[in-house]
Amino acid sequence: MRPPLAAVLGIDVGLLQSGMGGVAGAELACAVSNAGAAGCAGGYKLVGAPLSAMLDRLGTGTDRPVGINLIPEVVGAEELDHQLTQVLDETPPHVYVSLFGMPDDKVFDRVADAGRHLVVQVGTVEDGVRAAGLGAVVVAQGIEAGGHLLGTARRDELVAALRAELPDACIAASGGIGSPEEAARAVAAGADGVLLGTAFVVAHESRAHERFKALVTAAGESDTVITDVYEIGWPGRRHRVLATAVTADPDQPKKFIGKTVVEGKPYLVPRFSAAVPTEATTGRIEEMALYCGLSCSAIPAETSAADVVAGFAGVLPGSPAVTN
Ligand SMILES: Cc1cc2nc3c(=O)[nH]c(=O)nc-3n(C[C@H](O)[C@H](O)[C@H](O)COP(=O)(O)O)c2cc1C
Repeated sequence: MRPPLAAVLGIDVGLLQSGMGGVAGAELACAVSNAGAAGCAGGYKLVGAPLSAMLDRLGTGTDRPVGINLIPEVVGAEELDHQLTQVLDETPPHVYVSLFGMPDDKVFDRVADAGRHLVVQVGTVEDGVRAAGLGAVVVAQGIEAGGHLLGTARRDELVAALRAELPDACIAASGGIGSPEEAARAVAAGADGVLLGTAFVVAHESRAHERFKALVTAAGESDTVITDVYEIGWPGRRHRVLATAVTADPDQPKKFIGKTVVEGKPYLVPRFSAAVPTEATTGRIEEMALYCGLSCSAIPAETSAADVVAGFAGVLPGSPAVTN
């Protein structure tokens, strides 16, 4: 019998928190890991001293498995290489690597040779089969997901199709999971565990802007749309976001609508930027990229990361309340 996600990663609850650039800092990641699931910080475009600062907080904030998320298509192969060098050199062995989308094959070897777990989120059966064949934990993302969309299939269809191809692989499901009932549906489709993004946007430890959190908790499925308008900084990818004045009218001028600070460095935020509003962002928050999954309909209020994890503990394989 294949081991559940929790056993593969050495965690208590088979739940991964998505590394979300800007939103998921080391504080959220460590809170999730200290609660028994697998937290993950969003590395996004960080490199050099700002990435080192995040890695330092990650390595010292928990002694449990915790991840750093990188995005090959945003930074490109060369910059990913630099980021990986820092991660592998500067973090203790309990830090795993999480990737959004497929990297070059050599990245799989590099992470494995360093003795680290690799978790790769995919949106197609083809990518899932390739990632599993190269030794990664596969996260199957459906179009219910908040943020950037890797494919066009619904979550449980993709999970079932991957499970049919990969009976022994470790597969987590992502997209639209905001309740234990929805997680149980993904497990019934063949998943060994789940990955959640939007549910952690509203965690106290998340760095999402307060207005963003409030809009997510108030939203239902029909308040989200799939769009490609938030393309500055991340072109060529569709995103699921809360509908905004910008998604309603994409023909507006590309002018600056706010300011933000990332790891101590100030930036202007242009309209159509792919950057999410964080606690350091000011300006027209409601026009920015408010990534949000269909899971929002099951997320009524802000809560702690530990409470989110506890809510799912009973339904996931490998968790204390379940016998496998
Ligand atoms: C605010 C937000 C930011 C995200 N940023 C990232 C990111 O930086 N890297 C990544 O791998 N996935 C990112 N995602 C996508 C998630 O990994 C995942 O596919 C999605 O959250 C799952 O759907 P859910 O939000 O309904 O749980 C983001 C999602 C959200 C909601």
